[in-house]
Amino acid sequence: MRRPRHARPILPALLLTALLAALSPRSPAQAQAQTPPPDPDLLARGRYLGETVAFCGGCHHAFGPRMQPIAGMELAGGRVFAERGMRAVAPNITQDRETGIGDWTDAQIAAAIREGHRPDGSLIGPPMPVESYRGIADRDLAALVAWLRTVPPVRHAVAERSAYPFALSPHGGPVASVAPPEDTPVARGRYIAVNLAHCMDCHSAQLSEGRADPNGRGARGLVLEGPWGVVQAANLSSHPEHGIGRRTDEQVIAAITRGVAADGRPLAAPMGARAPVWAGMTPGDLGDVLAYLRSLPPQD
Ligand code: HEC
Ligand code: HEC
Repeated sequence: MRRPRHARPILPALLLTALLAALSPRSPAQAQAQTPPPDPDLLARGRYLGETVAFCGGCHHAFGPRMQPIAGMELAGGRVFAERGMRAVAPNITQDRETGIGDWTDAQIAAAIREGHRPDGSLIGPPMPVESYRGIADRDLAALVAWLRTVPPVRHAVAERSAYPFALSPHGGPVASVAPPEDTPVARGRYIAVNLAHCMDCHSAQLSEGRADPNGRGARGLVLEGPWGVVQAANLSSHPEHGIGRRTDEQVIAAITRGVAADGRPLAAPMGARAPVWAGMTPGDLGDVLAYLRSLPPQD
């Protein structure tokens, strides 16, 4: 059968329209509506990373006057960091479209976490640990984004903007694509302690501009001032006196998961308040963190 001549361009034209529609940038609303439900394993991984290992809420929850998280305001922002001469304010990272990041695409959220810039191109400053998060593997980053998408929207306008006494510089260097394999405990422990839980942002010698020195990991670190007074992050290197060289595995794990020092003293809030959260880390992850800490050369 011969097709009428005028019908010939119709099919290609329809295909072209469909193709253009598929390629054209979609509005976040459409993007969200059309996104299939995330793979349950990816979402579970993201929840574990976001709520436990990386504990984004430690900075992004809304807190009351005695630093108690306000119920119903999870990840709604507002915590002020008045340290190192800066006054940084944690933004609302719930799915609220106006006051949170509900309008951002997955790629924009991923770029904020791992590359440190917002959709408008502005840079994200400290203490958001972007330098550490640059090492987050692709799959773990996708998992975090999948989890953030499930965070209920909370309308909370964080009015104050961060003010830095120094110019923010773009974050450079490569970003990670894959995580170290399961059977490399020291490398996996480093990935958890350096990149995900950002332990070493506090537990490292500090460079003058308040950045952790990657060559000083494990040395006595960041000085933190707050309702708990002034406290300095402990030396976690294998130094026998200044570090944890003589501590038993149980003592080190108790500090991380119960917030108690080797002598039974409760550790100050920057560490103590996170311990109940880190108690939820898998025994495998805790073992890897321990293996990594044990590998740190002695530091004074
Ligand atoms: C040590 C504190 C801290 C931790 C931990 C932290 N953040 Fe942040 N984050 C901040 C601060 C402070 C800012 C704002 C910095 C600025 O104003 O430039 C920020 C900014 C952001 C932004 C940009 C939002 C906006 O509207 O500008 C996103 C997205 C974000 N963080 C996501 C996360 C996620 C996801 C995690 C956990 C994986 C996380 N953050 C962990 C402190 C933190
Ligand atoms: C926000 C900063 C901060 C982060 C992040 C942090 N710590 Fe700490 N940590 C501290 C401070 C401060 C102390 C000392 C508290 C005190 O002396 O009361 C401490 C103490 C410790 C101790 C006790 C050392 C000793 O002498 O007994 C261990 C072990 C430890 N941290 C491990 C970790 C690990 C592992 C992580 C990541 C999973 C981590 N910390 C993340 C600030 C931090």
